[in-house]
Amino acid sequence: MAIQKTSIPLAAAVVAAVLLGCRHLKPPVPLEKLNEQQTHGYWVFQSNCRQCHSDRESKALQGPSLLGVYQKQYLPSGAAATDERIQATILHGRNMMPAMGGNVSDKDMADLLVYLHTL
Ligand code: HEC
Repeated sequence: MAIQKTSIPLAAAVVAAVLLGCRHLKPPVPLEKLNEQQTHGYWVFQSNCRQCHSDRESKALQGPSLLGVYQKQYLPSGAAATDERIQATILHGRNMMPAMGGNVSDKDMADLLVYLHTL
């Protein structure tokens, strides 16, 4: 009996450790907690990127999911996950991703990057 009582918290700790190991990314900041700039970036994303990229789930569409994009050290291409690199991808495109520079104003770009940091 004594063994059973102590083994329950132990089992819970093991399960928690396994779950944390698999899901080491923090979940995105909830939409209702976004500030004004982040919320604007969310809408820029929905109108320009969402048709090819998931933002709040890991499912790949035409392009890779951007869930946790800045929490990972590298982009799918292996380049560092930095503002400079992501901005260059948006401006100039990459392989099957079209250049989007013409669609996104400087303010939209800044707000979009701020939103991507909440994922
Ligand atoms: C028409 C579809 C399409 C649209 C629209 C699109 N992308 Fe992409 N994106 C792709 C594809 C396909 C790739 C994979 C390119 C490759 O590496 O071959 C990609 C790759 C990326 C990458 C990873 C680059 C890397 O170095 O691995 C980022 C970041 C990205 N897109 C951001 C965006 C953002 C932000 C927007 C909106 C402004 C956007 N994309 C709009 C299709 C799209």
